[in-house]
Amino acid sequence: MAPKFYFGQQLSEFCLDHIKPHVYFDKWAIQPFNGQARRMAVIWEIARTFKPTVGVETGTFMGSSTPYLATMVEKEMYTIEIDKPTFDLATERFEKNGHQKNINLILGDSVLQIETILDGLNPNEDRVLAYLDAHWYDAIPTTEEIEALINWGGSWIAVIDDFKIDSDSGYRFDSYGEVEIGKDVLPSNRDLRLFVPSISSEYETGRRKGTGYVCMKSDAKVLESISDLTEYRL
Ligand SMILES: C[S@@+](CC[C@H](N)C(=O)[O-])C[C@H]1O[C@@H](n2cnc3c(N)ncnc32)[C@H](O)[C@@H]1O
Repeated sequence: MAPKFYFGQQLSEFCLDHIKPHVYFDKWAIQPFNGQARRMAVIWEIARTFKPTVGVETGTFMGSSTPYLATMVEKEMYTIEIDKPTFDLATERFEKNGHQKNINLILGDSVLQIETILDGLNPNEDRVLAYLDAHWYDAIPTTEEIEALINWGGSWIAVIDDFKIDSDSGYRFDSYGEVEIGKDVLPSNRDLRLFVPSISSEYETGRRKGTGYVCMKSDAKVLESISDLTEYRL
């Protein structure tokens, strides 16, 4: 593998001016939510109805979704990244591009860190919007992340990236060995509700990854009210 080095700002900008836009403008990591316009619209609608006080993203990567989520929450936005070189790049991006002051970038494992964040919140007052996107390695933390939200006991809605939509194969999903990101990674809990996009993948933009929207029965009316979603019976 070639050693990783970076050009300075001026040389980088010079090089970018000489690369055809189609080569990098549509790369998924450059845009929020994989460049998925319909997903972005749904998340905004959830935020307007649910009025989250706090946001939590697991898996920061380059921080392309974080600033968007940060604008949807009343108080703090937390984003957790396990890989130190990636964490350093995201830190630099947030500092240099002047992203919002309410962004808290945390280095660590999402399962441990989400528990610590939730411990500091008030389940009677806070409402959490979680974007669960920390699946790249063999260990998939999604089940435990959702368990942490359930155990916290407050109001929360989780949006899961790379989620298998059984009824529409146009939505792509991730799998690691035998495990597919989909309804099987949800913890078994009779009060859990799952919603997925009701619109065809043909109308989505960007990477067209599937999305799972999960909450407890007590918050399901928020997701029921969103016309682009349909409930999946668990
Ligand atoms: C698909 S990328 C996240 C993309 C980002 N959310 C966005 O919207 O642009 C997945 C990231 O999760 C990180 N990751 C994987 N497992 C993790 C874990 N257990 N805890 C925290 N981060 C993790 C990876 O290092 C990688 O940077």
